[in-house]
Amino acid sequence: MMMLTSTTLAVIIAAIIYTSFLLIVVNAHDNGLALTPPLGWRSWNLYGGSITQSKMISIMNGMVQRNRYDNNNNLISLCDLGYCDVGLDDVWQDCHSIKAAPGMHYHDIYGNPLINYEKFPSMFNMTSYAHILNLTCGWYANNCACSDHCHNVSECHLQIQSDVKALLQYGYDSLKIDGCGNETDLIVWNQYIEYYTKKMNVPPIVVENCHGDNPKFKPNRTLPPAIGCPYHFYRVSKDIRNNYASIMSNLQMVEPYHKLNESYPGCWAYPDMLQIGIPIHKSKKDKSPVFGLNLQETRTHFGAWAIVSSPLILSHDVNDPIIMDMIWPVIANREVLGVNQVYAGDSGGIYNKSKTNITLWYPNGKNHVQVPTNQYLYKPIDTNGQVAVLLINSANTSQTLVANFNNIPNVTCTTCHVRDIWNHKDLGLHTSSWSTKVESHDAAFIILKPYNNDNNNKQDSLQIKELQ
Ligand SMILES: *[C@@H]1O[C@H](CO)[C@@H](O)[C@H](O)[C@H]1NC(C)=O
Ligand SMILES: *[C@@H]1O[C@H](CO)[C@@H](O)[C@H](O)[C@H]1NC(C)=O
Ligand SMILES: *[C@@H]1O[C@H](CO)[C@@H](O)[C@H](O)[C@H]1NC(C)=O
Ligand SMILES: *[C@@H]1O[C@H](CO)[C@@H](O)[C@H](O)[C@H]1NC(C)=O
Ligand SMILES: *[C@@H]1O[C@H](CO)[C@@H](O)[C@H](O)[C@H]1NC(C)=O
Ligand SMILES: *[C@@H]1O[C@H](CO)[C@@H](O)[C@H](O)[C@H]1NC(C)=O
Ligand SMILES: *[C@@H]1O[C@H](CO)[C@@H](O)[C@H](O)[C@H]1NC(C)=O
Ligand SMILES: *[C@@H]1O[C@H](CO)[C@@H](O)[C@H](O)[C@H]1NC(C)=O
Ligand SMILES: *[C@@H]1O[C@H](CO)[C@@H](O)[C@H](O)[C@H]1NC(C)=O
Repeated sequence: MMMLTSTTLAVIIAAIIYTSFLLIVVNAHDNGLALTPPLGWRSWNLYGGSITQSKMISIMNGMVQRNRYDNNNNLISLCDLGYCDVGLDDVWQDCHSIKAAPGMHYHDIYGNPLINYEKFPSMFNMTSYAHILNLTCGWYANNCACSDHCHNVSECHLQIQSDVKALLQYGYDSLKIDGCGNETDLIVWNQYIEYYTKKMNVPPIVVENCHGDNPKFKPNRTLPPAIGCPYHFYRVSKDIRNNYASIMSNLQMVEPYHKLNESYPGCWAYPDMLQIGIPIHKSKKDKSPVFGLNLQETRTHFGAWAIVSSPLILSHDVNDPIIMDMIWPVIANREVLGVNQVYAGDSGGIYNKSKTNITLWYPNGKNHVQVPTNQYLYKPIDTNGQVAVLLINSANTSQTLVANFNNIPNVTCTTCHVRDIWNHKDLGLHTSSWSTKVESHDAAFIILKPYNNDNNNKQDSLQIKELQ
């Protein structure tokens, strides 16, 4: 008689679940989440491997502090603006655990993920705290630090299944699935997530597919869209770094997916977290923080991510008042957030670029990237010819950039209202084109709106739906 160990039992159950899944069409975006690009915060860029539960709690407190004004003089918090998901990144695990299965680093023989309790005494308490604050809390899987490489289908399914059970038992609301271990089958992840959310009667969760350019991932976004989208947003680029070359390099990676209309509600293309307000080191002179991006570059970064409908995931120290003062006008700009969150059938992208390239160097002086000196991006705001336009100048000198109305997709007016959404200013009517001087590494951000007799006498102001 064969003895059924709990491992074999789990594998058999897994196989039964898997078989019964085969006829289900895989479309995570059907679960009603991430119909607009997700907004939030994640731990990696600021804390890297030094993240702890108490740091997460402190960030959560910062996300709900109503200590800054919006344009209507109301005191608001980051969560009031929509940044309400606080996500944990890598290095929560008990790396090289003595409890690990042979050959594994942070999964035991039952496939359970092993937590570093010194750093995370109670993940359930952490997510409960988020929920008390009306925040959601995100986890992280298929880790990169001490990654685990399951060897075959049954071992991989056991680990994915146990990861999913832990995810839901700890009370998490979202999950980033990284690309380092061998838990790369997003279809299987989605099947277990659907199965256990129903079984445990818990709300559905948002999934980030962080496959980057790893061809092992199933499905990979380079495969036909017919295969479905068993996640809510997917990485299209390498890891982002804290400098302008990296920002511009990652931005280019979105366009192929935009062109194919593969970035849409419930399935957004994602060029990685925001590198906004993050010091690279402290100045030797006066210990003041030295940032990877200056204010112009910060604005270009945020504007570009907004107009291509990328998820906007902050990663700075939300409790640092100097940093918050510095970046608040950018990250709290409700008109820019409105452009990001609206969807009129087109996720937004590049409509023109200069013929010449510029070489942007990484601070290490070794790597560089070639990007068009100027890039012109658009995103339709509604079906009545209202269109957002971002004019990027990557040259190292200021330049005059021109928006030619008849070259911009979906612009129907020859004479258009122009609104500067960085500065909340109406710039009046312009015929055929609008031009402006743009500083080095800066970007102009406008909305064009058709001029018609109906709004002739009304205030020259654009009513795009702003976030409440
Ligand atoms: C979790 O929270 C409960 C209630 O606030 C508390 O009694 C308990 O000590 C906490 N546990 C840990 C491990 O932090
Ligand atoms: C959370 O939301 C509920 C319902 O909207 C509200 O009553 C409560 O005050 C909120 N809690 C916090 C801490 O903001
Ligand atoms: C990774 O897992 C798959 C099953 O999901 C298996 O077929 C493959 O051999 C594994 N790769 C390695 C290197 O073990
Ligand atoms: C899967 O791999 C594990 C570890 O190498 C091994 O113990 C197990 O027998 C394998 N299972 C199958 C079905 O090949
Ligand atoms: C792009 O795909 C989305 C989702 O399927 C759809 O709603 C939208 O109409 C498509 N847009 C175009 C221009 O085909
Ligand atoms: C593209 O931009 C260049 C300036 O960089 C301009 O000369 C050209 O007319 C533009 N083309 C279109 C189709 O917008
Ligand atoms: C600009 O750079 C891109 C990407 O490296 C390259 O494909 C293209 O050929 C370059 N164009 C010019 C004019 O150098
Ligand atoms: C934008 O233009 C394209 C091509 O003419 C059209 O298919 C699409 O419906 C337009 N989108 C909006 C929002 O008007
Ligand atoms: C500006 O860019 C040009 C062309 O790439 C280069 O020759 C020049 O050295 C740059 N100047 C500065 C100050 O970086």
